[in-house]
Amino acid sequence: MTKKILVLPGDGIGPEITAEAARVLEALELGFEMETALLGGAAVDATGDPYPEATRKLAREADAVLLGAVGGPKWDANPREQRPEKGLLGIRQHLNLFANLRPALLYPELADASTLKPEVVSGLDILIVRELTGDIYFGQPRGIEAHNGERFGFNTMRYTETEIRRIGRVAFQAAQRRNKKLCSVDKMNVLETTQLWRDVMEEIAPEYPDVTLIHMLVDNAAMQLVRAPRQFDVLVTGNMFGDILSDEASMLTGSIGMLPSASLDENNKGLYEPSHGSAPDIAGQDVANPLATILSAAMLLRYTFQEEEAARRVEAAVKKALAQGFRTADIHAPGATKVGTRQMGDAVLKAL
Ligand code: IPM
Ligand code: MG
Repeated sequence: MTKKILVLPGDGIGPEITAEAARVLEALELGFEMETALLGGAAVDATGDPYPEATRKLAREADAVLLGAVGGPKWDANPREQRPEKGLLGIRQHLNLFANLRPALLYPELADASTLKPEVVSGLDILIVRELTGDIYFGQPRGIEAHNGERFGFNTMRYTETEIRRIGRVAFQAAQRRNKKLCSVDKMNVLETTQLWRDVMEEIAPEYPDVTLIHMLVDNAAMQLVRAPRQFDVLVTGNMFGDILSDEASMLTGSIGMLPSASLDENNKGLYEPSHGSAPDIAGQDVANPLATILSAAMLLRYTFQEEEAARRVEAAVKKALAQGFRTADIHAPGATKVGTRQMGDAVLKAL
């Protein structure tokens, strides 16, 4: 059986950080077959399409996809169909990657990097489960039109109960493997879509009697995440709220440069990417933090290939590199050894 990984470096710092993660995967010698293809702005430049047919084909055939990041000011003025983000949303939808797992874990070595007080964040270990193929991101109708002499913009927030149930199950199961606390986030005091969300979460809760389910309105959840983040174990929410809350949660840990993510379909085919963006301002300078991408590779080993031991080896190697004092600029503190992207990759490889 071949194990195919498609690497999509993307834009900005994407090529530099995926190169380090690919080196780590290769070093494990698990017989992966790796190919590289274009996505995002790089694909627009080469083909006019942010998710070109050649990439589609390889993505369909791969067992897992390792992605850097897409986007940059260069393409921001393009028509929507030719924007990098469209490529990312396209591959998520095409591969039916409805379950986005975003762990926010504070490494003790980085407690000082957080803008929050160490006593608020120490020991933090949260998992955000974000629905990724529905909601206002994909709802129709949508657009900008003219009416009565002025333009108006509109989008549609929608969820079917099937979509809510399947992401709910992923979240309950994740909670079962962790501290058995699930917080479902909605805005049911205003939005019908999320009233349905809350109702369906309640309906499936009896299937998981060992998990305690609570509900929280999204504005309160945003506040609680900075007030007392350790009250959370697993959070489950829709596409848009999850987008926002996961960026917020990432900063609790000090740097968004540390956070991996997995986007899974129903059969553990997955796309793995750092939670951060393409950081065009520092692209090509060998200063970006590759750890979120390397940790995404660990998630790839765990979820798609069931290589738990290898996943732990990679995570332990990252910890060791941090413990040895290596820091990229985003997490640098006095007394640490400041390294670039490649050197951080070297440190992880050495620790592996
Ligand atoms: C993310 C990003 C994407 C999203 C953008 C780039 C389309 O912010 O993965 O969180 O909104 O989902
Ligand atoms: Mg986002």
